[in-house]
Amino acid sequence: MPNPTTLPSWQKLKAHQHDDMRDLSLREELAKPERFEHFSIPFHNMLFDFSKHLATPTTLSLLANLAKESGVGKLRDSMFAGEKINHTENRAVLHIACRAPVTSKIMVDGENIIPVIHDVLTRMKDFSDQIRNGAHKGFTGRPITNIVNIGIGGSDLGPRFVVEALHDYNDGPEIHFVSNVDGHDISRTLETLDPETTLFVIASKTFSTEETMLNANAAKNWLLETLPAEAVATHFVALSTNLDAVQKFGIAQENMFPIRDWVGGRYSLWSAIGLSISIAIGFDNFRKLLDGAHAMDEHFATAPPDKNIPMLMGLLGIWYRNFYDYPAHALLPYDMRLGKLAKFIQQTDMESNGKEVDRDGHVVNYATGPVIFGEAGTDSQHSFMQLVHQSPLPIPADFIICNKPHHNLTANHQSLMANCLAQSRALAVGQTHEEADGDPFRVFTGNRPSTTIVLPELTPFYLGVLIAAYEHKIFVQGAVWHLNSFDQPGVELGKKLAKPLRALLESKKTDPELDVSTKGLLQNISGNY
Ligand code: F6P
Repeated sequence: MPNPTTLPSWQKLKAHQHDDMRDLSLREELAKPERFEHFSIPFHNMLFDFSKHLATPTTLSLLANLAKESGVGKLRDSMFAGEKINHTENRAVLHIACRAPVTSKIMVDGENIIPVIHDVLTRMKDFSDQIRNGAHKGFTGRPITNIVNIGIGGSDLGPRFVVEALHDYNDGPEIHFVSNVDGHDISRTLETLDPETTLFVIASKTFSTEETMLNANAAKNWLLETLPAEAVATHFVALSTNLDAVQKFGIAQENMFPIRDWVGGRYSLWSAIGLSISIAIGFDNFRKLLDGAHAMDEHFATAPPDKNIPMLMGLLGIWYRNFYDYPAHALLPYDMRLGKLAKFIQQTDMESNGKEVDRDGHVVNYATGPVIFGEAGTDSQHSFMQLVHQSPLPIPADFIICNKPHHNLTANHQSLMANCLAQSRALAVGQTHEEADGDPFRVFTGNRPSTTIVLPELTPFYLGVLIAAYEHKIFVQGAVWHLNSFDQPGVELGKKLAKPLRALLESKKTDPELDVSTKGLLQNISGNY
C-alpha cells in the first residue's frame, strides 16, 4: 500500500479542504432542514448524529474514496477472516471472534476457533454463577463477597470501565480493581477486605507484567497472613495465556481461564479478561454486551462506507487530524456512569495508533493518532471546556448521552441533556460579535465539530455497540495511516530501562554511563529512601 498522502483521494481532499471548506459555516449548514436526516445514522434504536461536522456530501464521498483507495475494506475483511494482520507479532486479530455466535466459523492455523471461544464462555458462565449463588466458597466455607481484579492496561481498563458503567446491573459481589505498581493502590484496597471472603482475579495475558505480578504476590502474602497455603486454590483465579507461569504462582490449571494470542490486550474485555464483568452483572448480561458488539461488527463488515458508523467516525477523525491539523479529540459522555470512557479509549486508541513507523517499517510523513482525552459532562464544562470553546485550535468532540436514566430525578436528567445539547450547539454555531453585544471576550467562533451519540438507555447491549464502534473507528484510522494498530513496541523501552534502574535503587549504587539527569535523580532518591 502506498503512502496515503500520495493517493488521488488524499490530494482531492486536500484541495477540497483548501478550496471549498474555507467558507463553510456550520451555522448555515445547520439551518438546512435536510441536514440532520442526511448526516445521522440510526442503529438499533441508537442514533449517531454526524450533522455537526465540517463536512458536505462531497466531503463524505471523498473520504469514502480514501477508505477504498487505502484498502480499509480489504484489511477489515482480512481481520474478520482470521488472517495474521498483526504482522510484526505474526498474530491474527480476533476480538471480533470472541463475540461471534456459536454458529460462526473462523479459522486460524487450520483450527476453527469458535468452539474454543464458546468453551471458555461456558466455563466463565459456570464460574460466575457459582460465585454469585454462593456455591463457590472461600477456604473457610464463607461465600465470596468481594472480587479484586489485578491487572493493568487492557487487563484492567476495559473491565473497570464496563463494571462501573453497568453498576446498575451489578447484583453480584463488589468488584475492586488494582492496577498500579504504586503500593498505595493494593494496600488501600486490601485495607477494607476480609481474606476469607475475597477472591483475586489475576488478569494478565502474559502473566509476566511486572506491576501485576508484584500486586498478585502482595495479595497472596496478605492472604497467607491469615490462611494456609492451600487457600490460594480457592481464593485465586488467573486469566492468561501462560499456563506455566500461572501454575508456578500456585494457581491450578482448572482455575485458569485461557486467552489466545489473537486477542490484543486493549481489545480483550470480550475474552476471559471479562470474567470480573460476568461475575458482577451475571453471564446473561455479559452475553448481551457481546451481542451488542457483534451487532456492530456485522454493521462494520457490511454497511456501505457512507452509512457505516465506525467508518465515518474514523474518516472524520482523519479529516481533522490530517487536513485541518487538529491534534486532539475529546470524549464527553453526559453520563457519570461512562466516566471512564476516555481513560479506556485513550489506551485503545493511543496504544493502537500512536505510531510513527508504518506497516512497511518506514517513518511516516503525516500525522497519526490524536491525543484522546475527556471527562463526563457537566464536570467537563467547569474544567477544560473553556479551551475547547475558545482556544484558537479547535478540538473535535464526541458527545454521548443515554436517554433514559436509571434514577427518577427528572429535573437533574433534563438539565444534563440540555447542557449536552447546549455544548455541541455552542461549539458548532458559536456567538457572533453582534450576539455578544460587541463584547470581544464573549465571541465564540463556532465551526467546531462534534458527533452526538444517543443511547436509548445504558444497557449491556448498547454499551457493547458503543465500544465496538470505537474499536472499529480505531481500525479504520490505522488502516488509512497504514499502521499496524495491534502491536505496542512503544511501551517496551521504558520497561527495559526500568530493570537496571530498579537494581541500582536496591543496591544504592550508581552507573557512570547514565545521563546526568537520571544519575542526579537516582542519587537524590536513593539517599532519601
Ligand atoms: O501496555 C502494554 C501492554 O502489553 C498492554 O497492551 C496490555 O494490555 C498490558 O500491557 C497488560 O499486559 P498483560 O495482560 O500481559 O499483563
